Order: sequence, then structure tokens, then C-alpha cells
Amino acid sequence: MNKQQLVDEIKRLKEEKNAVILAHYYQRAGVQDVADYMGDSLKLSRIAAETDADMIVFCGVHFMAETAKILSPEKTVLLPVAEAGCPMADMVTERKLTAYKEKHPDTLVVCYVNTTAQVKALSDVCVTSSNAEKVIRHYEGEKLLYVPDKNLGTYLKHKYDLDMEVWPGFCCIHNDVTKEEVEFAKSTYPNAEFIVHPECRMEIVEMADFVGSTKGLLEYVSNSDCQEFIIGTEKGIIHQMELANKDKKFHLLSENLACYDMKLTNLEDVYEALKNEQHVIEVEETIREQALKSLNRMFELTD
Ligand code: 13P
Ligand code: SF4
Repeated sequence: MNKQQLVDEIKRLKEEKNAVILAHYYQRAGVQDVADYMGDSLKLSRIAAETDADMIVFCGVHFMAETAKILSPEKTVLLPVAEAGCPMADMVTERKLTAYKEKHPDTLVVCYVNTTAQVKALSDVCVTSSNAEKVIRHYEGEKLLYVPDKNLGTYLKHKYDLDMEVWPGFCCIHNDVTKEEVEFAKSTYPNAEFIVHPECRMEIVEMADFVGSTKGLLEYVSNSDCQEFIIGTEKGIIHQMELANKDKKFHLLSENLACYDMKLTNLEDVYEALKNEQHVIEVEETIREQALKSLNRMFELTD
């Protein structure tokens, strides 16, 4: 099948099966273009909770599809590529977190949405990059543990002077950004604003004109009077930035800003997912109920 035939088949299958396609901004441009909804982790999880479709094809990584299943257990949730994971989500395990909790029974656990269902189930509240600041302020004065992203955790800890331990996990894409790359880009594009995702290290975040979730970054470039931007997050987001801002220029900070897992999904995989109803995401019910509590707590504190 050529590209147009694939797109037509995806559309036909979607209607036949009452399915919606959700895609994260880091997906390949061709996959973004067939999505019904795009968003950051928070927006996509809200859409998953609210849609009346019978089937959700989640073009992203495993924790995102799993979050959709936790919120919408009655729907069929499909992840087109079974191996598409998030290495950071695997940096905190159920076993290690249980051991920590046994040693620190008075500590509340705040988990990033980039975690497994088992870790969410062991946590008191979940956060995403777009609401972490809002959620965490409800817990000022408490003893906290933040898992697994040391960069977002350290940023929050210092900004709000929190009594918070931070797990040593990280995103291998954002964590690798260096000061030298930023300095070089700023000197190459002196009129550009530098914007970053909070998964970058604190010394990088401190050099930025704006820090935000993927959705926050997109909104920022559309609302800013500036015409040129240096992008300190995964390269896939530039597709939507260009579509929404035809007259503005976007410079990717480094070609290394490419998430291997996000790029595993192709249009063919989306087509196969819909045709064969693969790969079905399941979450064991007792885990799901517990994990749902930490997600609902997040929604209560931010709605
Ligand atoms: P967002 O919630 O900002 O989309 O981030 C998800 C992610 O995995 C960033 O690396
Ligand atoms: Fe995970 Fe980083 Fe990829 Fe986001 S960019 S999905 S945090 S590995």
C-alpha cells in the first residue's frame, strides 16, 4: 500500500471499529497527521477518560497507553508497537519503591506519569509535566518522595523549597542536553528564544526563556511575539509548531533530541493495530483501582 492508501484504510477501519487515534507530539509527522487528538501526557489522558469511542489507538509509549486503560477500563486500548516503552518509566520498580516505603512509612510518594501502573498504585498522587507545580504546592510542608525523574524533581524541590527526596531516574534524551549545546545555539541564533522541557537538567532549565510540558511549549511559541525559537525537547514537536506558526522559525537544539521509542511507530503499525486489534493493553484490576486513585487525586487537585 502507498501512503495515501494506508491513510484511507486507517480512516475506514477507524470508522468501522468506532476507534480514535491519540498521538503524542513526539510521534512521527505521518502518524501525527492521522491522529484525531494530539496532546501532552495530561491532555491525552483526559481525552482517553472522556472519549465515547470503543477503541483507543495510542500512538505513544507504553505508560501512556496504560494510563488510558487505567482511566477507561471498558475500552479496548491498543499500543501499535508493543516494544515502545519509556526507559525512564522503568527506572523505578515496584520492588524498589515498596522497599523504600517500608523504610519511610511517613513519606508521601509523588509519581510522574512516566511510570508503570504498579508504581502509580504505590503512589499517593500522580503528576505530569504540565501540572507538577500545581499539584506539588498542595504538599508543601510534607515529607515527600518524587519518582522517577531527578531533573523535574530537583527543579520542583528547589523552586518550592520542599522536604522532598528525588529518585535518581532520568530521560536519556533530555538529560543529555549540555550547556555547550545551548551556548552554541544561542550564539548561532541570537534573536531566538530558548524553550525547554523540564526533563532537562536544572542548569539547562536555568538558561531557558520558558520551561513547559510539550503542550505548554507549543502554546508558548504560538503566543510569543518572538519569530524564532531554539527547541530543547524531542524533535517531533516541531511538526505541530510549524503547522501552527507558518511564519516562525524553529531550530532543534541538538539532533540527539530524538526519542527512539517514540519513533518506533510508523503508519503501517497504526494500520496493523486497527486491522488486527493489537497490541491490547491490560492492567490487573486491583493494580488498576489503586493506580486510578493516584490519577484521580491529581485531577482533584488540578481541576
Ligand atoms: P509531556 O507530558 O510534556 O508531553 O511529556 C511526556 C514525555 O515523555 C516527555 O519526555
Ligand atoms: Fe521517555 Fe524521554 Fe522518550 Fe519521553 S522522551 S518517552 S521521557 S524516553
